[in-house]
Amino acid sequence: MKAVAKAHTNIALIKYWGKRNDELILPMNNSLSLTLDHFYTTTEVQFDEALQTDTFIFNGETASDSESAKISSYLDRIRQFAGVQMYAAVRSVNHVPTSAGFASSASGFAALAAASTKALGLDLDRKTLSILARQGSGSACRSVFGGFAEWEKGSRTDGSDSYAVPIMSKTEWDVRVLSVLLESNEKPISSRKGMKRTVETSPFYSGWLEAVDHELKEIKTAIRTKDFERLGKVAEANALKMHATMLGSHPPFTYWQSSTMAVMEEVQHLRDKGIQAYYTIDAGPNVKILCLPEDEQKIRDELENLEMVKGIYGCRPGPGIEYKEKLPSLGDSPSPSDG
Ligand code: DP6
Repeated sequence: MKAVAKAHTNIALIKYWGKRNDELILPMNNSLSLTLDHFYTTTEVQFDEALQTDTFIFNGETASDSESAKISSYLDRIRQFAGVQMYAAVRSVNHVPTSAGFASSASGFAALAAASTKALGLDLDRKTLSILARQGSGSACRSVFGGFAEWEKGSRTDGSDSYAVPIMSKTEWDVRVLSVLLESNEKPISSRKGMKRTVETSPFYSGWLEAVDHELKEIKTAIRTKDFERLGKVAEANALKMHATMLGSHPPFTYWQSSTMAVMEEVQHLRDKGIQAYYTIDAGPNVKILCLPEDEQKIRDELENLEMVKGIYGCRPGPGIEYKEKLPSLGDSPSPSDG
């Protein structure tokens, strides 16, 4: 009753921001992402009749009580889905620099959904896996697929039509994402809390929802026609709109810091020089830069001159969920020079 699965993180180009159901994690809008090759989580789950409780080892160490409680309550959903009562031993190895503020909940819950269901002998299709991953963390439902994927929000109250679908495989278009690690001096509000506050209090939230359908149409055309400029422009505009909703919240908040804005400005300078670079930003201060392979080195060279840049992680389109024989050894955390 043991299985191992590997899942990669993804970066949303059209963001998921706001839930219509907190419990089932049902979103207010469709979102669209690119799965990244360089950041991933591998998880082993072993169900065992002899266990008295769930156990969770994260990067070789026992996880904190709050972290373990989250995993256990997620496993309750899986147990309910499969109709079993057994506890599980979970071991996870993260190839994501979480301490640097790069999110790992997407790869974490996608890997956990896949490994736990496989360990219980279930042979699930990707749609069902996406629905289950979604219930751990919304963005995880997109990490079930490689390349570009769209999370369809669905309309049913039970969430059975809210899952990701593949848009373009990782081999079809080599778009690069440079994750720029910045000096950070604040503890951000979690994305979960931030989106809740925005939906409940921001007068700008309705504007966000109004714009998103057109942006989705636009980005899907850009992907289909491999029009990078069109893709970059709409992704950047969508990220700016998401962050604008937060400024209208009560109390207002922002994830941006001065270093965030300095990199945004630098990306604009790069464009002024004719280099095709666009940014997107999630619920934290770090900036992700979208570019094509031929421009990657030029962008790195410019950014490395900025004092506030602590590292640049280069990513290519990555694969969806993969089942493995065993966990990788520890100590292979990515370093900023990788890429
Ligand atoms: C800004 O998926 O982390 O990164 O569903 O509450 O776990 P929960 O939230 P999460 O939110 C991601 C928000 C985002 C945009 C995105 O990835 O689409």
